[in-house]
Amino acid sequence: MSNVIAVVNHKGGSGKTTTAINLAAGLTRYSDITSSCLLIDMDPHGCATSTLLGKLDGEPPARSVFDVLRRAITPHDGITSTVYDENIDILPSNPSLDSMAKTQIIDRLAKVTQALATSYGWIIIDTPPNLGVLTQNALVAADYVIIPTPCTGLAVPPLRQLKAMIEQIQERQNVWLQNLGVLITMKDGRTPLHKDALRELKSLFKNDLFKTNITTNIKIEEAPAVFRSIFSYDSGCLGASLYRDWIKGELIKRHKLLEKKRVERIESAPQPVTPPPAA
Ligand SMILES: Nc1ncnc2c1ncn2[C@@H]1O[C@H](COP(=O)(O)OP(=O)(O)OP(=O)(O)O)[C@@H](O)[C@H]1O
Ligand SMILES: [Mg+2]
Repeated sequence: MSNVIAVVNHKGGSGKTTTAINLAAGLTRYSDITSSCLLIDMDPHGCATSTLLGKLDGEPPARSVFDVLRRAITPHDGITSTVYDENIDILPSNPSLDSMAKTQIIDRLAKVTQALATSYGWIIIDTPPNLGVLTQNALVAADYVIIPTPCTGLAVPPLRQLKAMIEQIQERQNVWLQNLGVLITMKDGRTPLHKDALRELKSLFKNDLFKTNITTNIKIEEAPAVFRSIFSYDSGCLGASLYRDWIKGELIKRHKLLEKKRVERIESAPQPVTPPPAA
């Protein structure tokens, strides 16, 4: 089962961390694969780390993904349990991750996720708001990418650049990377989607655009401040039902479909030639 999902968009404040956390929580609740989920925080700002560890004091965790990437500790030793109600562990971020961003190494995280893949039903990677080395590591390590984005004139055009980077990584470093989909976030519930931006999104991503739109919802904003997922904070609110509809109604189904395609692709790939036995 291929279960590593990177949540990526280099535009800041597009809903990556909110989506990564609620996706992790939703998958532990609604996926039939297993109930365990690991979140890897690749953003040196560590917003996912602060909320999942229940710490807003800015004190970086003692062990982090940075220590794992520089091979000072093993992947399993970097993992910490979280204060969230769901069965989510975290490989936390640390501000020192910034120093890794100055290197050219883009396949380190892939080795980490390979080592952890059998221990978790799902691995979700939150990424920083740029297309640098840390985001590239996430795309090289992932089986799937999800792109959360507001549907506005300013948010959509930069996605061309992200699409080009994904295609480049699919060609060069990770032929198995698939786009799980583009999720419209922070939609104003009172007004229709911006027509030109939506047209541009559809022409860029075609059927990869999820039908569910996550509207702006105050509960979604409040939940991380009290260290809860939207499902645990207020399961009946609009934000919870939208994230639930998206995960149960679209994401899990699309994942199953793409997994089938992946298996067919693996099976139809030319078999390596076995040398004849020595005489
Ligand atoms: N649907 C929503 N309704 C209301 N507020 C939201 C919603 N989604 C995200 N937010 C809020 O918008 C802000 C930005 O969201 P978030 O941190 O998830 O974006 P991001 O892409 O991770 O940002 P960055 O690029 O800085 O990492 C946060 O304060 C978050 O609480
Ligand atoms: Mg973020």
